Amino acid sequence: MKKIINDRLKSLSGHLLNTDNILDIGCDHALLEIYLCLKYDNFNITGSDINQKPLEKAKENISKYHLENRIKLVHANGIEKLDNTIDTIVISGMGSINIINILKDINSYPNIKKIVLSPNNDFYYLRCEMNKLGFKIDKEEIIKDNNKYYLIIEYSKGLEKIDNFFGKLDLSNNLNREYFLNILEKNKVLLNKITDNNKKDVKEMENIMIQQKLER
Ligand SMILES: C[S@@+](CC[C@H](N)C(=O)[O-])C[C@H]1O[C@@H](n2cnc3c(N)ncnc32)[C@H](O)[C@@H]1O
Repeated sequence: MKKIINDRLKSLSGHLLNTDNILDIGCDHALLEIYLCLKYDNFNITGSDINQKPLEKAKENISKYHLENRIKLVHANGIEKLDNTIDTIVISGMGSINIINILKDINSYPNIKKIVLSPNNDFYYLRCEMNKLGFKIDKEEIIKDNNKYYLIIEYSKGLEKIDNFFGKLDLSNNLNREYFLNILEKNKVLLNKITDNNKKDVKEMENIMIQQKLER
């Protein structure tokens, strides 16, 4: 199949089954929808977006592949137009605060059995809040696309107690370890910066004190 999507969206598609009835919130270009419909004959998927411009782009892309009869597009904010045919939600490429804001009333929709998320940032916050909403992690993976790390998390209803920093990432996996080492490196740089500034502050304080002594 011609390369329609990047590795991030391709990995995301691996978390979706052709038996899932999907709403992809923030579908933008609708490339995930197109890829899934070309991969599986009977795929039921709706893409929604809060903005009209991405929906126009999505419509254009869908018609290029003649998939108008298979992909439904909806203009909506988050889950506001969620109907009871949908049992699976996908949200990818948004910040965790936006994702949780979209999902805060998800428990009013008992049909939802699966949520697949790929946040842009703040994975710890996302795990904490999904846990509070009563969802447990079934699978999660780190993927690397274009030299950037992405997280893909698959949730279902349920309670569990886990370490929200590591989630269920397997630390014997090379890429997962590389991802955490990368965080550690970034934090080391931050720590050095803070320590250097502290040193500067201490030096300045000492100078002020010496000056005050001299003036006395
Ligand atoms: C960066 S794009 C991600 C596109 C695609 N999901 C991906 O992973 O490549 C984010 C999209 O989410 C849409 N969006 C942001 N907030 C939304 C909301 N509350 N409801 C629906 N769509 C939203 C934006 O308009 C934008 O098209």
